[in-house]
Amino acid sequence: MPKNDMKKILITGAVGQIGSELTLALRKKYGKENVIACGRKTKPSDGLLKSGPFEYIDITNRETVEQVVKEYDIDTIYNMAAILSATGEEKPLLCWNVNINGLYNIIEIAHEYNMTRVFVPSSIAVFGPETPRINTPQETILKPKTMYGVTKVAGELLGDYYFKKFGIDVRGLRYPGIISSETLPGGGTTDYAVNIFYEAIKNKKYTCFVKKDTILPMMYMPDCIKATMDIMEADISKLKHHCDFNISSMSFSAGELADEIKKHIPDFKCDYKPDFRQAIADSWPQSIDDTAAKNEWGWKPFYDLQSMTKDMLEKLGKRNKEGKL
Ligand code: SER
Repeated sequence: MPKNDMKKILITGAVGQIGSELTLALRKKYGKENVIACGRKTKPSDGLLKSGPFEYIDITNRETVEQVVKEYDIDTIYNMAAILSATGEEKPLLCWNVNINGLYNIIEIAHEYNMTRVFVPSSIAVFGPETPRINTPQETILKPKTMYGVTKVAGELLGDYYFKKFGIDVRGLRYPGIISSETLPGGGTTDYAVNIFYEAIKNKKYTCFVKKDTILPMMYMPDCIKATMDIMEADISKLKHHCDFNISSMSFSAGELADEIKKHIPDFKCDYKPDFRQAIADSWPQSIDDTAAKNEWGWKPFYDLQSMTKDMLEKLGKRNKEGKL
């Protein structure tokens, strides 16, 4: 029978794009000593280090995770460590090892230590060219053509299997591209939607690695954090899905994003030189139907293209003035 208390939280990938902001949000909610941030190699920022405990672990090495779980009496894991889609195409074996063998270690440890809950992120990368691309349904064809997508489909199935078979309360969301101002993403196909802001502010020009008319679903970080914390607190008796919730907030083309930035920085120039990531983007949906998330746990995003762009430019502009960009 799934338990309810989330008192001692371990977060893997805590130095990454989502992990770094999620850690601070979780510390605010659950107390700074109760959220153990973990990374593999990258040095954490001072802000992250000063805000609570930090440990080095490698999720592909089970013992390193178990040690921290025992030391801090962990009952909840957010497994944010992953290799993203573009790096995954360059290093498919590494992608499989981290995203599948690493995830397997995390879920097995959660089972063995009778944990309350595990969060396992999924992605729009679970879809592929055979999937309907507009308003992609919750239940649909999952035949991704990237190694990252393959690992994300398997991860959803593994989480659902452990829930059904062993009662381990694993939950997950299919994140769209995440746009954020604190930590840069690394190795993803949707990274252009973050890089464009930094370059617009620093150099007033950007060369985008997907075509101008490439439309993808995106989400601003505050909504991503809200969705992640909300699904983990949702009443389990209302959930029909567990590890595979579609979530949506905004969709736009690379050209529309550049135009929106131009409204604030009129001399900003964007040109387009598609590379291998274009094929990945073309295999993903343009927009997502998230009715199940709305109905089962009340999902509702706040930001749209206009409000996200304004906020990003304000935040990055301020950091640039302070010489910290
Ligand atoms: N943002 C991710 C990527 O581009 C998708 O989940 O790989």
